[in-house]
Amino acid sequence: MSLVTTKEMFKKAYEGGYAVGAFNINNMEIIQAITEAAGELNSPVILQVSAGARKYARHIYLIKLVEAAMESTGIPIALHLDHGGAGKSPDDAFAEVKSCVDGGFSSVMIDGSHYNFTENIELTKRCVDYAHAKGVVVEGELGKLSGIEDAVNVSAEDAQFTNPDEVQEFVTKTGVDSLAIAIGTSHGAYKFKPGTKPRLRFDILEEVAKRLPGFPIVLHGASSVMPDLVAEINDCGGKLDDAIGVPEEMLRQAASMAVCKINIDSDIRLAMTAGIRRVMTASPQLFDPRDYLGVARTEVKKMVAHKILNVLGSDNKI
Ligand code: G3H
Ligand code: 13P
Ligand code: ZN
Repeated sequence: MSLVTTKEMFKKAYEGGYAVGAFNINNMEIIQAITEAAGELNSPVILQVSAGARKYARHIYLIKLVEAAMESTGIPIALHLDHGGAGKSPDDAFAEVKSCVDGGFSSVMIDGSHYNFTENIELTKRCVDYAHAKGVVVEGELGKLSGIEDAVNVSAEDAQFTNPDEVQEFVTKTGVDSLAIAIGTSHGAYKFKPGTKPRLRFDILEEVAKRLPGFPIVLHGASSVMPDLVAEINDCGGKLDDAIGVPEEMLRQAASMAVCKINIDSDIRLAMTAGIRRVMTASPQLFDPRDYLGVARTEVKKMVAHKILNVLGSDNKI
């Protein structure tokens, strides 16, 4: 059993009007939770690794854990670099992508969205040429999402929607295999102002799909910031005021259109935190990490199964 690229997954997802979940991984419990849920539901899955995850868990540990997950579940898994090169110089960005291509990933993202259009094309093409020569697929990005994670640090004012007039030229000149676009989602747990109606620019997605027929589009910042998890965290002493995510019906709509990959990280963080806080609050006498990490793992698995069945529609697609 070896890793797969996203080529076949995206072709089937596009034709079938569903999306494949791309879940961020940082430790063993998260990897087990995602792959066990996907395995039980016969769903393809993408495991993605950020620069922060590589720093925290280290590349070799993540690779070995993913190998173990493939062996025990038998499902097709793509291992993807998330936001490769974000905020870095062109040489450092290329080096990060190269190290994941050489280090066994089957898919990489080169995030050149902090550069202008021409520079983004130049950097992305350099990465595509290197990755394709080694059989690795590449995701590029046009437009900017706001966000507050380690490597993704774009303020709301600097965020900008993707310009559909640019997508054909970008894809043709770079040779990317999929494209991340900005239509109003953002990273983290605070995606929309409280009291306002969440809104995504489906008109932009539709226009992009017209310019790139059959081409897989990627949606970042696509956690729903599941209200039940937020409530549980707050009930157990947390303080996540006004956390708001993308409504599930909007994600279902995107999946039925050209979006083939939906990125989810914040909901994993919330599920783990809710599980851990629940155990800590209800049983303060416990001090075996397996007690709270085990519950957190179950919580993540339940959340991922819910996404596959009710949001992505990727169950029974292997
Ligand atoms: O898009 C960003 C992901 O949620 C990864 O976040 O850089 O904090 O690992 P991170
Ligand atoms: P969320 O913060 O909405 O989970 O987005 C994750 C993401 O886009 C990873 O690239
Ligand atoms: Zn992202």
